[in-house]
Amino acid sequence: MNKKVIIDCDVGVDDALALILAFGSPELEVLGIAGVNGNVSLPKVMKNIEKVLTLIRPSNRPWVARGADRPLQGDPVHAESLHGEDGLGGAQIQPEEAGRYWQVFPGAAEELLIEMARRYPAQITLIAIGPLTNLALALQKDPEAMRQFNEIVVMGGAVRTRGNITPHAEFNFYVDPLAAKIVLDSGLPGTLVPLDATHQVPLTPELMEEKVRPRQNSFSQFVIEATGYESGEGYFRGGRKAFYLHDPLAVGAVIQPEWVKKEKLSISVEAKKGEFYGKSYEVSGRKTNAEVCLKVDREKFLGLFLNSLLGENRHL
Ligand code: RIB
Ligand code: CA
Repeated sequence: MNKKVIIDCDVGVDDALALILAFGSPELEVLGIAGVNGNVSLPKVMKNIEKVLTLIRPSNRPWVARGADRPLQGDPVHAESLHGEDGLGGAQIQPEEAGRYWQVFPGAAEELLIEMARRYPAQITLIAIGPLTNLALALQKDPEAMRQFNEIVVMGGAVRTRGNITPHAEFNFYVDPLAAKIVLDSGLPGTLVPLDATHQVPLTPELMEEKVRPRQNSFSQFVIEATGYESGEGYFRGGRKAFYLHDPLAVGAVIQPEWVKKEKLSISVEAKKGEFYGKSYEVSGRKTNAEVCLKVDREKFLGLFLNSLLGENRHL
């Protein structure tokens, strides 16, 4: 049974890997993709969505919608040191024209979320793998529509672990903490996939040597270029020994929910400027508002990810 999904993303490298996993999974039907400012600026995010769809060549021509180019409050923050100046590590893909592998949605991203939630009540899982600006805008415009999503899965936050953009904050929540607070405090049925879980699923030089490099197809080449993997040196862009599969895990949690152990918690986000800006934290004495993924079956998820990425059905 296909799960209908919409993916809100800030393509970046791990977002791209998440899209490849989603479209490569028979369990999912990706109806639409919304872009948001995050890893790189919005124009680069939208161009990267086109590049990744050109690589994937989806047969169902999903909607693509342009979203927010800045957070609700504060200035845009980007992560080019990890994702490269273009957001895909300079991976060489000449994007196709719209119409062949996707359709341009005639409205802003928050309109796509609202329209699709109303068209398919209680049938769509919204997977948010970038800053939550588009979701907050949709909630402000039409909260009733947003309640029509069957589930909202968010990659974001650092609940019982250190942040990755400051010692306290995870990147998606740090870029737009007010939006994250609005979404988490909305009471929508949500699953949170924080760094506590995503740091359990790194892409490593060993996996690159054993599984990716030998595959020799367009997807394995993309992973090598996008992650900046240097085979001889045994590291990724910036000398990193691991490339965390943050966003693919959020998709994996929708494909195989039983592979993540969740705890019902009440989570909020610090939206005031200062040392703890963007920090996600547990609120005591309040109704729970999220099922938080804290433990992952690493072997099963990495197997799913690599098989989908490099599997037989992928284009040579
Ligand atoms: O903290 C990791 C998250 O921030 C991922 O979604 C990554 O793509 C960046 O957006
Ligand atoms: Ca992302």
